[in-house]
Amino acid sequence: MTSLVRRIGMGLLVCALGSANGVAQGWQHIGKVERVETFKEGLQNGVELTAGQTKVRVTQFYNGVIRIRVAPTGHFPKDFSWALAETPLNYISGPVQIHDEKNEVKMIAGPVHVSIAKSPLLITFSDASGNVLLADEPSLPMAWDGPRVHVWKKMPPDENYYGLGDKAGPMNRRNRAFTNWNTDEFGWQESSDPLYKTIPFFIGLRKGIAYGVFFDNTYRSSFDFGKEARDYFSFGAEGGELNYYFIAGPEPKKIVEQYTAMTGRSPLPPLWSLGYQQCRYSYYPESRVREIVKTLRDKKIPADVIYLDIDYQQGYAPFTINREYFPTFEKMISDFRAQGFHTILITDLHIKKDTNHGYVPYDSGTKNDAFVKNPDGSIYVGKVWPGDSVFPDFTLTRVRNWWGGLYKDFVAMGAAGFWNDMNEPSVFFRADKTMPLGTVHRLDDGTTIDHRAAHNIFGMENARATYEGLLKLQAGERPFVLTRAAYSGAQRYAATWTGDNSSTWNHLKMSTPMLMSMGISGMPLVGDDIGGFAGSPTPDLLTRWFEVGALNPIYRDHTAKGTADQEPWVHGPEHEAVRRKYIELRYRLLPYLYTVTEEAARTGIPMMRPLFLEYPQAQEFYGDDRDFLLGRDLFVAPVTTEMVDAEDISLPPGDWYDFWTGVRHAHEEKIQLRPRLDEMPLYVRAGAILPMQPVVQNTGETPDGPLQLHVYPGDDCRGSLYQDDGHTLAYQKGEILHINYSCSASSSSISIISSIESNAFKPWWNNSALTIYGATAAPKEVRIGDRAIQDWHFDAQAHTVTLTVPNAAKDWNVRVQY
Ligand code: GLC
Repeated sequence: MTSLVRRIGMGLLVCALGSANGVAQGWQHIGKVERVETFKEGLQNGVELTAGQTKVRVTQFYNGVIRIRVAPTGHFPKDFSWALAETPLNYISGPVQIHDEKNEVKMIAGPVHVSIAKSPLLITFSDASGNVLLADEPSLPMAWDGPRVHVWKKMPPDENYYGLGDKAGPMNRRNRAFTNWNTDEFGWQESSDPLYKTIPFFIGLRKGIAYGVFFDNTYRSSFDFGKEARDYFSFGAEGGELNYYFIAGPEPKKIVEQYTAMTGRSPLPPLWSLGYQQCRYSYYPESRVREIVKTLRDKKIPADVIYLDIDYQQGYAPFTINREYFPTFEKMISDFRAQGFHTILITDLHIKKDTNHGYVPYDSGTKNDAFVKNPDGSIYVGKVWPGDSVFPDFTLTRVRNWWGGLYKDFVAMGAAGFWNDMNEPSVFFRADKTMPLGTVHRLDDGTTIDHRAAHNIFGMENARATYEGLLKLQAGERPFVLTRAAYSGAQRYAATWTGDNSSTWNHLKMSTPMLMSMGISGMPLVGDDIGGFAGSPTPDLLTRWFEVGALNPIYRDHTAKGTADQEPWVHGPEHEAVRRKYIELRYRLLPYLYTVTEEAARTGIPMMRPLFLEYPQAQEFYGDDRDFLLGRDLFVAPVTTEMVDAEDISLPPGDWYDFWTGVRHAHEEKIQLRPRLDEMPLYVRAGAILPMQPVVQNTGETPDGPLQLHVYPGDDCRGSLYQDDGHTLAYQKGEILHINYSCSASSSSISIISSIESNAFKPWWNNSALTIYGATAAPKEVRIGDRAIQDWHFDAQAHTVTLTVPNAAKDWNVRVQY
């Protein structure tokens, strides 16, 4: 390659010819550094390098995060990001040491050592021990070509790449190339790309050591992890700034924490949104919706949410109600509330172009000059569900505020959540499925950007407008917004799902790696259409989908128009019973699920975790797309194949208890199962203390009985419980219950300690029922504090000891002597 590069004046290198490496003609690679100056702006501290007319800033963004900005012409645009949270978390910047040497500039910023070779400019990131983590490919210094920008990095043969949000196929992105351009991709398949979201963030992982890269660029971007070449990978964009962040680990968890400290975390959702959600395109008329809700209750299938898809609207016009189909819409919503059902309404972002009919969103939007325009100043009109439609200019704060206000009536009617679909934005009858690239999007400062720059953030700003509107309208209630399109940072406003999947076994299989990828890409509140959207699942497929879905963050059954019914009961009593069992399992696990959801809101670590997130040293799991962890303590090995011959299960490091039988297994054991239709392999970490509850029909119902604590003795024995009122913002003022549990076991005894960290919320329970696993003999003595008790029970078959701790919301300790 170097022979193809000819040095010209001003320190630029020009790639004169296309190369065997596949580099396109026309790239201007950066050349020799001629000047080095220190640079400081806010917390950012580092160097500004000049190479010809080009300037490069390498700064510590904050501890462990290094930012690279490149201005090919020497002029940096205004520093602005849609992705970064307005109130960044944990931003602490330590001192930076800079050594300007003859051939390189060395920068030491906390744990990161950056070396910048001068001729040509090449950047290498290492850790404090000198291990190289990420380095520019020497034959391909960073480059631009007109508006396009690109970076090439060396690719060690054993490095793995994860992230990029909702990409299909294997979670490890190596050997494939991807494009980010939010796309309505009905019936997407394993090789479909791009999909609905743009998350230009990935984690590189090699031998247990990880780093992250966030390329904050909203234009159409691309990542090539070895499709083009074997020794380097690359990323770039069609326009915008070459602006990326290197995030130091070394633990993958640390990177997710850092990335979400920058781009924000999902606020704690209402508890009801973690319940079972029933949807289809579309339930109507009103009698049908009422029938669905009633059937769920009659059949004692727990559920919290019913959705109304586009057919509740008049002519598919958002914010209207089809009164013919829904004669008592408001009463229906309040009747559902009374039965513990939350109604979520779809409100797509396109506004029907409906002049002179008193259609408020169109009329008020027009009056407020709220719609996206063509370059000639006319309003852009595109066809979507309602026919001719116009599109709010969500990049303007005043338009987001206007949009947020449109929810007033629905909120007053008692609708509990909103679904922002089609917000890539999707436009029908166009080859590119979206609005023309030249459409004009206005910004608050009076400048404009075109659709090339705005496309990938459009959906996020739509969700933001909804979320911020609901915050104002709902008086202290947590908003719930579901969005389909996203850019990095969308997690601050909305939950999401994987769009229009299909009712096939392969789609069931693809779900887990996709949900895990979104989780590590900052979006923990994710689910897929249970049973598949396009097509109709076979009975077994739907049942298996209900099984794994019970342990996914969002649990929503949804299907397309014209497909067979897909509710839990449609395939007869046997299937219904299995599906009910798993929906009940989810409700029994709610105390644990809510506790890990709070952890995700606080730390960014997703509820649904790939094995490498908890066990980065265990390289045998780097390619495990089938299994996942829910929180730290549940290991799920879902059945995603039709012909279950035998499933091989490799347990994560440590010992694990079979959730169903209580049998303890060592990591080394090779487990082979032939799971019956009602069995999904599920294991609990030896060392876990799992909080559970009695089954309820919805999260608003008070569980009948004590808190259930399942104690699985093992190493590092601990657990925790987080509870609050489940729906208001009072938790932000500290009105929470937070308890830490720990245990220590020897061959002849086990002690369990409960200690309260915060008890400013009073839970439903007073007592805790303990089930201690791994008991091989009846105890000689059981004590609560210093009082010996008699009312314990030993089950020789299940190897459990059970007992109840009264007044368990206070600190307590239990000791079992065998
Ligand atoms: C899109 C959505 C789907 C929805 C349908 C009708 O295809 O992805 O979930 O049901 O539009 O609104």
